[in-house]
Parts: sequence; structure tokens; C-alpha cells
Amino acid sequence: MDTTAVVWTPTPHPHRIATISLIAGKAHVSGSLGLTALPDSPSPAPTPGLPPQLAALIPPRDPRNSQRRIVSTLMDRAGIELRGRPALEQDWLTLLYCGRDGIGALDVFESDAEAERYYGEPDRPEPSESELLPALIRMQRGQASPADTELILAQGPVAGVPGAMPKWLGREWLYKFESSAYPGLLALEDLAYEIHSRAGFEVPETRLLAIDGVPVLASRRFDRRLAHGRAVAVESMYSVWATEYPSQIRCNTDGSMELMADTFREYGLPVLEWYGRYVLAILTGNGDMHSENVSLLARDDQVQLSPIYDPAPMRAYRGRDNHDLLSALPCAGIGGTTSSGYRPYADSGDTPPDLRDRLVQLGVYAGIDAAVAEGEIDRLLAVSAGYAESVPAHLILTLPGGYQGRAPDVRGFQATLDAVARACR
Ligand SMILES: Nc1ncnc2c1ncn2[C@@H]1O[C@H](COP(=O)(O)OP(=O)(O)OP(=O)(O)O)[C@@H](O)[C@H]1O
Ligand SMILES: [Mg+2]
Repeated sequence: MDTTAVVWTPTPHPHRIATISLIAGKAHVSGSLGLTALPDSPSPAPTPGLPPQLAALIPPRDPRNSQRRIVSTLMDRAGIELRGRPALEQDWLTLLYCGRDGIGALDVFESDAEAERYYGEPDRPEPSESELLPALIRMQRGQASPADTELILAQGPVAGVPGAMPKWLGREWLYKFESSAYPGLLALEDLAYEIHSRAGFEVPETRLLAIDGVPVLASRRFDRRLAHGRAVAVESMYSVWATEYPSQIRCNTDGSMELMADTFREYGLPVLEWYGRYVLAILTGNGDMHSENVSLLARDDQVQLSPIYDPAPMRAYRGRDNHDLLSALPCAGIGGTTSSGYRPYADSGDTPPDLRDRLVQLGVYAGIDAAVAEGEIDRLLAVSAGYAESVPAHLILTLPGGYQGRAPDVRGFQATLDAVARACR
């Protein structure tokens, strides 16, 4: 097994940016992978797993993850044996196999020659949505025909996408498939996108599709600029933090909103825009704004906040651990997940009566004038007025006929939304 690899970026023209080696069970990077790394910043410390920027290019480590299953099948066919190897070696081989053309602008190759060959090749044509999506859905249901399997495998290795929901990474669109565990989620997520857009926040174009009765949410990739044929560098806040504070940040619910405010100020990023997004997440019942649900991107040679993604109001799916979260990352001393150490209002479903004051406190911490923070909260209360009433139409109507599973707790969710809005007034 090769234990060195090279990392290239196609932006603004293909070139190598780093090398990476496996030495004594750790990944050593020489060069910088991070979007926010200053020109003279040192290489990140060796990591026991893949560095976060590259770990995001392989499918999540869940045997039920459909992208992982597809990549594993292709690797099996190519004679690449993962079984019996340590986890880091498995991830390494998977990265070398599929770590190209993923979200962002980092591509991994065995050698520079391989990279040059790759960038010289024309893009493979992509099958139409109407061919590919039904085949992927049948595969997820365990009902793929041999022709479906061949169509999917013929796409070759596709980079993984982080996150818990099943997905497919197309060249122009990212497709998220509804899982039977979360009926109605994608219709609700699409509604949340609409409200964020109404609030003036940048959202990608989305299309809510129904393929053989399964909802699919397509969002246009903001990490691709098709007109220029360019990949846009993207890095999640989790990756920024895990690189900067490797011993403290080990999962996407480590850290806090105050730490995020610090990072935003450090990089001179728009704090009010970020703050407003967080307030609206809280008002729409999205307690899942963890550090992988906030990303930075490089646009016009400047580091910026990415458009909104994953505004999914997960509090509708209460009754499971860490789903009825006020805020995945603690803020003003409250919230967070139950696993990140006990804090009031973690996964209790309760609403702090002084929520408005706490949000203003976060705003002031981030350098926003208290009156401006209050004004933003009031503006977003107005934008989200009526949202709680529109939820049932999205959640109930999308349940398939004869659905037997656990339905979202629509009434409980609405009661929480009302309580949160009241506590923000
Ligand atoms: N329109 C888009 N363009 C580019 N990248 C995107 C887009 N939407 C999402 N992403 C990327 O894909 C990843 C997964 O998407 P998303 O967060 O929606 O998935 P998820 O499975 O719902 O995640 P979670 O585990 O947080 O619930 C994001 O972390 C982000 O990096
Ligand atoms: Mg996410």
C-alpha cells in the first residue's frame, strides 16, 4: 500500500497544495489544506484519523450509508481489500479511491502524474436525473435490478458527502433522499429554505422532487461555478476548529456559539449575517446547527460565509436522543447536546424564559450592538410569523398512505415553536 499521496486543487488552475503520508498510524500533512490557513501558517499536527478536510471526501462510516456501500462495491471489484485493516488504512484507501471532485476544491491522488492525467481528461457525461434517481432509490430499498446496479456503478467512484441523510453528489446538484425514519423532513427543510430566503439570507436553488413516491431535495451546489468551470473551496467550521484545536474539537457538537463568534471575528467575517441565521434556526425549530452545518468558502479570493444549507427543523422529530435540541452548540451557557456535558436546556425540550436576553448576550459577545441584535431578533420574529401554522401541511400531507412508522410530533413541535417565539419577544 502506498503511504504517501498528493493533494491538488483545480482552482484557479490545477496545482499541488500539499502532500500527505501515513506514518506510524497517523496522517502527516505537509502544506495547508485549510481555506482559512494564513500563508505562513504551519502544517497541521499529525492526526490519528484523516485530517478533517480530507475525511469530508469519503462517505461517512456507517455501513447503511448508501454512498459507502457503492464505493465499497467498486473497491471490491477493483480488488482493493479493506477487511482486516486498521480504520485509518481503510479510510486512506477509500480516500485514494474516491477523494476527487467532492464538495469543495480538494482532490487526492497517488501521484502528481495521476493528477495531471485526471485534470487532462474530459468530464464523464452524467446520466439524466430521471434515469439515475429511481435507480438509487431502488438500491436504497434493496430492490435494485442488475441494470440499476450497473448504471450506478458505471458512474465510477464519487466522493462522499458528510451528514446523516442518504445522498448522491451530482455534478451540478446535491440530492438528499428522504429516509423512512424522518417522514416529511425534506418538505419541511424546503419550507425552511424558503423562510431563510425570505429573511434575505443566501440559499442555494432547491427543487423538491418525488421519485417513485420518495421525496428528494435537490440543492444546486454552491461549491461549483459552472459558468467558469471552477470548483469553489469550501471548509466547514468543524474542520477549521479541528485543525486549530485538535485536542478539544473531536466531533461536530464540540465548541460553542461563542467560539464561532471568535472565529468569525478572527477572519473578519460578517458577524451579523451569521447571528441572524442562528436566531432564525432557533425560531424555525432547527436545533441542529452544529459545526458541520456552517461552512466558509472562498469567493473572489475572499473567505466568506457559505450560503445556507441543512436548515432542517429537526425538532419536529423529538422523542429520539438529541433531536429536540434548542441548539446543538451551547450558547450563553445553555443548550448543547446531552453527550457534550450537562447544561440546562440541552435536550430537555424546554424553552428558557430568558431566551431573548441570552441571544442578545451572544450578539454582544460577537461584537454586535445590543440594539442591533434586538432589532435582528424582532425582524426574524416577523419573518417567521405564521411558520408554526404552516408546518402541518408540510409534515402531514407528505406521509405516504398507510404509513406505519413513527410520525413527527406535529402538535409538540408547534407548541415548541410558539414557546420559542414567545421567549424571544
Ligand atoms: N447546495 C450545496 N452545495 C454545496 N455543498 C452542499 C450543499 N448542501 C449541502 N452541502 C454540503 O453537504 C454536506 C451534507 O449536507 P447536509 O448537511 O444537508 O446533510 P445532512 O445529512 O442533513 O447533515 P446532518 O448530519 O447535519 O443532518 C454539508 O455538510 C455541506 O458540506
Ligand atoms: Mg448537515
